Amino acid sequence: MTILSPTQTSTSTDVPTLELPPLQLGKHTIETPVILAPMAGITNRAFRRLCREYGGGVYVTEMVTARALVERNTESMRIISHDADEDFRSIQIYGVDPITVRAAVRMVIDENRADHIDLNFGCPVPKVTRKGGGAALPWKTDLFTSIIEAATSEAAKGEVPLTIKMRKGIDDDHLTYIESAKIARDHGAAAVTLHGRTSRQYYAGKADWEAIATLREAIPDMPILGNGDIFSAEDAIEMVEQTGVDGVVIGRGCQGRPWLFGDLQAAFEGRADRFRPGVREVADTVYRHGELLAEFFEDEGKGMRDIRKHIAWYFKGYPVGGDIRSQLAQVPSLERLRELLNELDLDLGYPGTAAEGTRGRAGTPKKTHLPDGWLSTREMSDEHRVMIKAAELDISGG
Ligand SMILES: Cc1cc2nc3c(=O)[nH]c(=O)nc-3n(C[C@H](O)[C@H](O)[C@H](O)COP(=O)(O)O)c2cc1C
Repeated sequence: MTILSPTQTSTSTDVPTLELPPLQLGKHTIETPVILAPMAGITNRAFRRLCREYGGGVYVTEMVTARALVERNTESMRIISHDADEDFRSIQIYGVDPITVRAAVRMVIDENRADHIDLNFGCPVPKVTRKGGGAALPWKTDLFTSIIEAATSEAAKGEVPLTIKMRKGIDDDHLTYIESAKIARDHGAAAVTLHGRTSRQYYAGKADWEAIATLREAIPDMPILGNGDIFSAEDAIEMVEQTGVDGVVIGRGCQGRPWLFGDLQAAFEGRADRFRPGVREVADTVYRHGELLAEFFEDEGKGMRDIRKHIAWYFKGYPVGGDIRSQLAQVPSLERLRELLNELDLDLGYPGTAAEGTRGRAGTPKKTHLPDGWLSTREMSDEHRVMIKAAELDISGG
C-alpha cells in the first residue's frame, strides 16, 4: 500500500475545521459522513480502493442500469463488484420501470451484493431526458413514486438502506426536489442526496447550496446529503455550515486526488492536517491507479486506455511539460507508464493553489430535451410509458 505518509501533509493552524457527527443510513452508522459520488467511468473498484485508503465514508460504484443488472450483463456485474475488504458495499442503480427496478433491487438483496443502494435520478444527458429518463423523470410524480415504492420495499426486506440522488429539477420553472424528497422519505428512503443544479444547468455555473439548505429545512426528519462543487475539505466544511447537511457527496473534486478523502476525514474530525503531495507521490499514485485498473479490467491495454483520462486531473497545477503530458495521455503499457513517470522532476513539491480549485466536467447550460408534452402534466401518458422504456438502454452516468 503506497498511500501518502503524514510527511506530505500540511498542519497549518488557520485551516478551518468542524466536527460532524456520524451519518446514520438505516441500521448503519457511517463514522465519516462523506460519500464518493457515483461517477460512470471513474468510481470503479480501482479508484474506490485508492480513495478508501485515505479516509472513511461511503464509496459508491459507477451507475448500473436495472435492466442490465437483471440480465446479468458481464460489464454490469463487474461494475457492482467490490473488493473483499470493502466492508460497506454501496451500489448505484438507474431505472425507469418500477418492475425492473424492483427485480434489480431484489437480486441485489437476495444475492447479498450490497449494504447500501442508491437510485439515480440526476442524469441530464439529452439522449436520456429526451425519452423522459434521468433528471426528467421526477417530474412525473406517479412514475417516480412507483419506482421509489418498488425499490424501498424490496430493499427493506434485506434491511439495506436505499437512498435517492437527484438534481433540483428540470429547470428553474420546474423544480421537483422538495416534493421528490418528501416522496422518498414517506416511502422509507434512508437519505436523499441533492446535487444543487437543475438538469438544464448540466455542470455549468455554481451549485445552488441555498437549495440544499432549503431542503434540509423542509425535511428535518431524514438525512440530507449535499452535493455540488466541493473541491476541498474547506469547501465541504463551508457546505455543512451553510446548509446544515448530514453529509457531503464528492464527485469531480476527487478526480486525480484520491487523498481528498484523507483531508475530508481530518476536517470532519476537527483536525487541520491536509495532504499536499509532491510530484513523486502523485506519480506513484498514477502508477498504482494504472495497475489497479489493469487488474480490474483483467486487461492491461484497457487499463491503460482508462488511466489516460486521469492524467490531466492528477497533474493539474504541477509543473509537468506539455510533451510528457501528451505522451502520458497516450500511454500504451504499465512499463511505459513507469518510464514516463520517472522522467518527471520527482523531487518537486506541492504546487499550492495551482493544484486546487475546480476540475472535471464543466461546460455551459443546455436546454433539457424532453418528450413532447412532458411538462404539461405530472402524470405519465400511455405514449410516454412506451417511450420511456428506451431511456434505459443508452445511458452512462450523469
Ligand atoms: C464523469 C462523471 C460521471 C458521473 N456519473 C454519474 C453517475 O453514474 N450517477 C450519478 O448519480 N451521478 C453521476 N455524476 C454526477 C456526480 O455524481 C455529481 O452529482 C456531480 O458531479 C456533482 O458533484 P461534484 O460537483 O462534486 O462533481 C457523474 C459526474 C461526472 C463528472
